[in-house]
Amino acid sequence: MSWTDLIPHLKALHLGFLALWTAGLLALPQMLARHDRSLLKSEFTQIRRATHYSYVWAVTPAAVLAIATGAALIFLREVFTVWLFAKLVLVTGLVAVHAWIGHTIITVAETDGRHEPPDALVPGLILVGLILGILVLVLAKPELEELPVPAWLQAPLGRSLPFDVPNR
Ligand code: HEM
Repeated sequence: MSWTDLIPHLKALHLGFLALWTAGLLALPQMLARHDRSLLKSEFTQIRRATHYSYVWAVTPAAVLAIATGAALIFLREVFTVWLFAKLVLVTGLVAVHAWIGHTIITVAETDGRHEPPDALVPGLILVGLILGILVLVLAKPELEELPVPAWLQAPLGRSLPFDVPNR
């Protein structure tokens, strides 16, 4: 069995984890928007716990595993292309929204609900834009090599790392 035999399995795992991650990112702002102080204390605690636990135990692990399987696929499929780098720029946007949701969950918790989480529309629109952009790039795999890319991204600069790298 060679490493390349792992590709279809890794891709299936990648698709599964990214589906859970993106579904979670779309659902969490909706759950946050329901942190309404006029709710009964018990109802408020319930929605707050559900948001917290799904973020910590489902959406964040799915994000880490989607990124890890994607990173492994880069090297196994040897996908060193401009469309993948463009995809990673958009994935960074997903990670930023993920971090913002985490920050909002903590702020709501620490202010005992006095912090009004924003409406879910804007985060939802940003997420849909990012996800659609990623899917277009990864499924169409457009030839972006003609794109003007900074010179420092195109050729090695002959600089050395600030630490010794063992050469096998
Ligand atoms: C840092 C995070 C990620 C990395 C490093 C990554 C990397 C990769 C790589 C190398 C492939 C294989 C491409 C090929 O076989 O030609 C792939 C496939 C795929 N990725 Fe990602 N990915 C990441 C996140 C995501 C996210 C967030 C989404 C969706 C929102 C996504 C959607 C897909 C899809 C749909 C495929 C299958 C494409 C195909 O079979 O041709 N990826 N990813």
